[in-house]
Amino acid sequence: IKHLLSGADLDAATATEILDTAAEMATVAGREIKKLPALRGRTVVNLFYEDSTRTRISFEAAAKRLSADVINFSAKGSSVTKGESLKDTALTLQAMGADAVVVRHPASGAPHRLANWVDGSVVNAGDGTHEHPTQALLDAYTMRARLGRLAGLSVAVVGDVLHSRVARSNVLLLSTLGAKVTLVGPPTLIPVDIAGALAPGTDVSYDLDCVLPDVDVVMMLRVQRERMKDSYFPSAREYARRYGLDGPRMRRLPEHAIVMHPGPMNRGMEITAEVADSPRSTIVEQVTNGVSVRMAVLYLLLGGNNR
Ligand code: CP
Repeated sequence: IKHLLSGADLDAATATEILDTAAEMATVAGREIKKLPALRGRTVVNLFYEDSTRTRISFEAAAKRLSADVINFSAKGSSVTKGESLKDTALTLQAMGADAVVVRHPASGAPHRLANWVDGSVVNAGDGTHEHPTQALLDAYTMRARLGRLAGLSVAVVGDVLHSRVARSNVLLLSTLGAKVTLVGPPTLIPVDIAGALAPGTDVSYDLDCVLPDVDVVMMLRVQRERMKDSYFPSAREYARRYGLDGPRMRRLPEHAIVMHPGPMNRGMEITAEVADSPRSTIVEQVTNGVSVRMAVLYLLLGGNNR
């Protein structure tokens, strides 16, 4: 593939190739070899129109570990504040020789448009409420590393599905890889037609307590207050009471089940500190795995099949 814009871009073979390559990258990173020469002479631009901690830093770390040159572009402090369009910004980056553009943008679909304007590869690092495919890949990697497989897993994705690009990309990718996804949350935060529209076989439940005893993975989503009007949302205390993962709820999970969260977390709302910091939590591992997965994505887009 040339671009990674959506979880739907990945068939099972391609997704598995990325996860297997990421496992090799992790092996390298764990040894004395800190850097590979694979992308020497290539330029990766991180083009971020929205805030990020994990994604931006891990793409930068991934590109540097593959010896690429990295240009970090943040809309704040750039000519975007003077009204420069995404297209003109993209053409400027193109003129500087970007081989790959990693883009985060508040508008759903922005990476797809960008892919029409630049010659290099485009990686969607989160577009509005639409998709975040590398997050889904690192989540799948983490599940496979912890539980040994993806096919047949039962995964509950819990919370603010309506605004979650993480949920959309996870439903698409996990379905492709044979896992069963149940979306859980208040009816106001689960789009009516999302399950069937994204992937047939995806279930919806409004009752977290019913779902927990039967899952292998519970993935808590951040409540995105910045994207919602108050009318969508019950009180924070009411939300936590019905849909927050706390200690008593965690103890209803099967013994082997893991707890995930893409970050950043609202501790005390969708997840308590006891759960986030427990041995079942993979939240820190997800961040570590994100570097290996993004190394694999950049390697396969720039240094592997398309070379
Ligand atoms: N998970 C995630 O996308 O985090 P950031 O917003 O910090 O990149």
